[in-house]
Amino acid sequence: MRRLASYVIFIVCCGLALSQQPERKCLREKVIVFPELSTNTWVKLHPNESMTQTEFTVCLRFYPDPESSNPCLFSIATPSNPRDISLLWFVDTKQYQLVIHNSLVQFNGLPLNLNQWNTICVTWDVKNALAQMFVNEVASIKRVVGPKQAFKGEPVISLGQCQTKVHSAFHLSKTFTGFISDVHMHNQVLTINQIKTYMEAKSKYKLGDYINWHNLMYTIFGSAEINEKHQVTFKVKEEQP
Ligand SMILES: *[C@@H]1O[C@H](CO)[C@@H](O)[C@H](O)[C@H]1NC(C)=O
Repeated sequence: MRRLASYVIFIVCCGLALSQQPERKCLREKVIVFPELSTNTWVKLHPNESMTQTEFTVCLRFYPDPESSNPCLFSIATPSNPRDISLLWFVDTKQYQLVIHNSLVQFNGLPLNLNQWNTICVTWDVKNALAQMFVNEVASIKRVVGPKQAFKGEPVISLGQCQTKVHSAFHLSKTFTGFISDVHMHNQVLTINQIKTYMEAKSKYKLGDYINWHNLMYTIFGSAEINEKHQVTFKVKEEQP
């Protein structure tokens, strides 16, 4: 009996050690490092609530040196669609790509700098199914993408990989290598002034009410890791409020 008990304890402890536990932290002034071309390396974000959005804004900063042809920054799978939201770009043509409800749209001529911080925000609204993208203070035109449907249900949110057919099924051609920071998702379309404030990296920009980098619940997989922004890039510190 004693032997059985210690056996059970051993199995329980091993199971706990092997399964990654989500952590909640403020990642202000921190980056996530995506150091290798591997579909095992990604970060899962855990929002407090399941999705009910009819509009959204996603903003993040990325510092790329891509090894794949179509690196993915951010993606959301829901029960109804493994490609409900994806944000990626084509390395060869420097076109950004947005997927909404499995429909695809491309944005041309926006900046994309290797080994530098790029700031990107994307907005979408169910009313007219219009998306707009903002990169380094350049605004795209507005484009129609996806059916006029709200987002619904329990999401799987990933950084550094795009979900394809089934949840968390990744493809090497969509693996991101570089740094990602300051990820925020809002339940509304931000105004151009709110986006500009975020772009300028002012500390008083609006924090996400669905995903908030300053109070983030996340799980790290593979060789991704958290580093201090000022220890890996020459970016100056955010202004103090
Ligand atoms: C999620 O819940 C935690 C704990 O109650 C709270 O501190 C945090 O602000 C919430 N996050 C968002 C984005 O609302």
